[in-house]
This record gives sequence, structure tokens and C-alpha cells, in this order.
Amino acid sequence: MCGIAGLFIGCPALAACPKKALAALAAATTAPDDGTVPEDVPEYRSPFATWFERSSVRQAPRRVLEDGEDKHAFSPDLVPLARHALVRALPGDVFGEVLTQHLYRYLDFTTKLEHLVVNRTVLGIAHRTVGVELPEEMVFDAYKIYCDEAYHAVFSADLLRQVRARTGIAPKLVAEPYFTTRLRQIQDSLAPELRPLAELLFVVCSETLISATLAEVPEDPRVHAAVRDTIRDHAQDEGRHHAYFASFLKYLWAQLDPAVRRELGPLLPDLVLAFLHPDLPAVREELLGYGLSRDDAEQVLAEVYDEHTVREYARDTARLTLRHFASVGVLDDPAARDRFEELGLLEGALLR
Ligand SMILES: [Fe+2]
Ligand SMILES: [Fe+2]
Repeated sequence: MCGIAGLFIGCPALAACPKKALAALAAATTAPDDGTVPEDVPEYRSPFATWFERSSVRQAPRRVLEDGEDKHAFSPDLVPLARHALVRALPGDVFGEVLTQHLYRYLDFTTKLEHLVVNRTVLGIAHRTVGVELPEEMVFDAYKIYCDEAYHAVFSADLLRQVRARTGIAPKLVAEPYFTTRLRQIQDSLAPELRPLAELLFVVCSETLISATLAEVPEDPRVHAAVRDTIRDHAQDEGRHHAYFASFLKYLWAQLDPAVRRELGPLLPDLVLAFLHPDLPAVREELLGYGLSRDDAEQVLAEVYDEHTVREYARDTARLTLRHFASVGVLDDPAARDRFEELGLLEGALLR
């Protein structure tokens, strides 16, 4: 058994042994070793005061697909792929299947993100192994987030199984979602002692971004009630996580050495896009699976996910995350600012 995170050992989806990674992070930070927290960080106000009464894992019922409900698996407005002329021209109910595959991909993404990335970080916070000094209340709240994320993985897997049983549509999922591949690439480009910090900051990004899925699907009456309610449950929990990780960023950033901050600042926009960029390899596989030719599949991808659309979506979704970064001074560093600009994340973000 490997100490804090033995359960994860041997999992091919992980970038590194967590115990080793967390130890390296502890070495890479300049956290004081006397249990004190930095004085210039605002006092932590827990967003989890009513967690025992309000969190999904404590109070929400299991969300079950209703019999005979003739609704979409996902909001068509959020799946432009389903409306592309080349996809619509395919025989059969490809429109419905594309929405279902999108739901599967979203649910699979969620289970992997929660289990393999977010909870690994939260476990480190709960057991004070991330090398960042935090108020005791914040450490205890990490226990609650750990439960939340584990339950989000449960209800995502549960819903996927229900939809598969109801529709008979087999999920077309890739072994590794884009975000894990991209996060590993980014980590591999860094000195070993910075890699765990990149993962920590990736979690800050993922927990503070507000996706259209979380915001809009619960309000779309065309979508199955069980899907809407599951995503609503998730969004409500994530509101608390957002506030928590905005605070966590302040404690983390204040305790990093200025030289480490300069290394990590320009990396942040890449971490944002690692999370938000559409999973093109997965969608390409899906399109080929419907019988589209390779050229047609590439045309659909190029037209649906053109660079302008992808960046506009990323910018909208990351608006608050950018404000949090700006509030700790990330954008005061010209190299970081240039990289945000280069990746199209600053335009119109009202940060100047
Ligand atoms: Fe979650
Ligand atoms: Fe979360």
C-alpha cells in the first residue's frame, strides 16, 4: 500500500505516482513549516457551512430516467455537430445518436476528472501533503469536496448506464479523454519539480470555470429530466467548489517563490485550454464510426470547431477564472499576459 493514495497505483490514466508527485510539490513550494498561513491572504470564509444539509450526496435523490419520456439526451444548442449538414445527411437517427454520444462523453469526462484529477488534489489538501499551508477549516472542507466529487462520478456513471440500457446505443468513448493527454504533455514540458504544481493549477482552472453545460442544460425543457436534474445537482455543488478554489488559489500563489510564479504564470492559459478544448480525436472517431469518410469528418470538425468559435467559448467560460488569476497578480507578469493574449483568452475580458 502506497501511503496516501495507494488505491490509484497502477492506473494508466495517471501522470505520475501521487505520493512522489505530492512530495515533489511540497519541496517546490516555500510554505512555512510552522503551520502558519500568509498574513496578506484574506481570511477564509467557508462556502460549506450548510454542506451537510445541502450537498447532493447528502440530500439529492437518485436521478432516474422516466418511462416513456421522449426527450433529447442533451441540449442540441450545445452540440452543433448534430446539426451539421454532412451529419444530418447520414441514414438513421444520427441526430439523436450524436446527442447521446455527447452526453456519454460528458459523463465519462466527468467521472475521470473527478476520480483521477480533482480528488487526487483534494486528498492531498485534506491530508496536508500538498505543501500549502491552509486554515484548518479549509483543510476540513477538502473532505467534503472529496465526497462531492466521488458522488459526481457515481451519478455520472449511473446515468450513463441508464441511458445505455434505455437506448441500446453503445458508448463510443476513447480510452483517454483529451484533457488528460494534454495535461500530461504540459507536465512533460516542465521540470519535474513543477509538474505537481501544474496539476494543482489545472484543478484550480477546472473548478473555477463555468461551463455552458452546467449553466444551461438544467434549464432546457427539451432534455430528459434525469439528465437536467443530474447536471443541476452537479452545478449546485460546483458553486461551492468554485468559491473554495478561488480562495485556495490565493493561499497557493502567496506561498510560491516568485521565480516559480514566473514559470507557472504563462502556463495557466494552456491549462485552461487543456480543460476547455473540444476532444477532437474522440469526435473524429465518432464521426468515422457513423460511416463518414475521413475527408468529410475533417470538414465537419473544421467547420464546427473553428478556432474563433473554440476561443470565444473558452474566453466566456474562463472569464471568472481569469479574474481570480488577475486578483493574485498573474497578469502583472508580461510573459503570462502575452500567453493569455496569444491564446485569445484576454480579449474583452475587461482585465486591463
Ligand atoms: Fe464535480
Ligand atoms: Fe468540483
